[in-house]
Amino acid sequence: MDISSLQSPIAKKLFPFFISSDLRKWLEDKVALITGGASGIGAATVRLFVQHGAKVTIADIQDNLGTSLVQEIGTEHTIFVHCNVAIESDVQYAVDATVAKFGKLDIMFSNAGIAGKFTSSILDVDYDIIKNVLDVNTVGAFFCAKHAAKVMIPTKIKGSIIFTASSATVICAIAPHAYAASKCAVLGLSKNIGVELGKYGIKVNCVSPHLISTPIVMDALGIVDRETGDKWSAEGGILKGVLLDEEEIAKAVLYLASDDSKYVSGINLVLDGGYSTTNPTLTEAYNKLFPSKNM
Ligand SMILES: NC(=O)c1ccc[n+]([C@@H]2O[C@H](COP(=O)([O-])OP(=O)(O)OC[C@H]3O[C@@H](n4cnc5c(N)ncnc54)[C@H](O)[C@@H]3O)[C@@H](O)[C@H]2O)c1
Repeated sequence: MDISSLQSPIAKKLFPFFISSDLRKWLEDKVALITGGASGIGAATVRLFVQHGAKVTIADIQDNLGTSLVQEIGTEHTIFVHCNVAIESDVQYAVDATVAKFGKLDIMFSNAGIAGKFTSSILDVDYDIIKNVLDVNTVGAFFCAKHAAKVMIPTKIKGSIIFTASSATVICAIAPHAYAASKCAVLGLSKNIGVELGKYGIKVNCVSPHLISTPIVMDALGIVDRETGDKWSAEGGILKGVLLDEEEIAKAVLYLASDDSKYVSGINLVLDGGYSTTNPTLTEAYNKLFPSKNM
């Protein structure tokens, strides 16, 4: 069979479930804005969205990375806008630039984030650390949601707003206090505005990645190369033989952004390979106390 015939509108109507996700374009005619789109999870999502037919604005503070991603993908599908999400006028400008270039906004992926200074004790936390992390991770998420809704509501776009939260919203692992607090706040925000925006048909969700050795993690934890970071993730993971990466998160975001998730709103899609379902401390304590009878 000629595979390309499966892409025809009739084939798509008749056999939607038989057409592999690689062939089907999930975001045809959709326009997206991705903050933190120049690197890591954001950049992987930009690539996947474009592959699935979307036009994408990359909003980031890393101008060099952002513009080279646009060059790699093509100016027909992407633009780069310098945007510090902690500054409301920057976010508003990025939304306006998206509408000016591509005509509308269907998807806001509020993904930019920072880890902040790595302080493991509450005694070492000071106002500057808290403010910096919350300004980017939480206040930035507010601005993204506000300005996305401002253009989606009057244009009656049944849009999708997605936030990158973290597995720190469901388990206390290695995240600094301010970071964990900022991401729990994002989850609360997401659920709250999902209720408000539901009346306009706008769905609001979170995606919560577990550990991936992107620059945010490597810089915060002093991991010098990706290989070492991946080794650590593999050792510490519950689900063996697979490794979480940026592309895996991008696929989850693609689902939440697409019409395939049209009745999905208010969820926190956690990608942690089951890490948050268990707690190894009892086993570790047993093995320490009874080394001859390892559990
Ligand atoms: N990597 C992980 O293990 C992990 C786990 C859970 C959640 N997250 C979250 O995923 C998101 C993406 O991180 P990543 O892992 O891709 O890391 P990354 O460092 O590759 O990407 C973060 C991006 O955000 C941008 N950014 C930082 N501050 C910004 C600001 N003020 N305005 C606009 N852009 C800004 C950076 O320039 C960078 O491009 C973050 O929100 C992070 O907290 C990551």
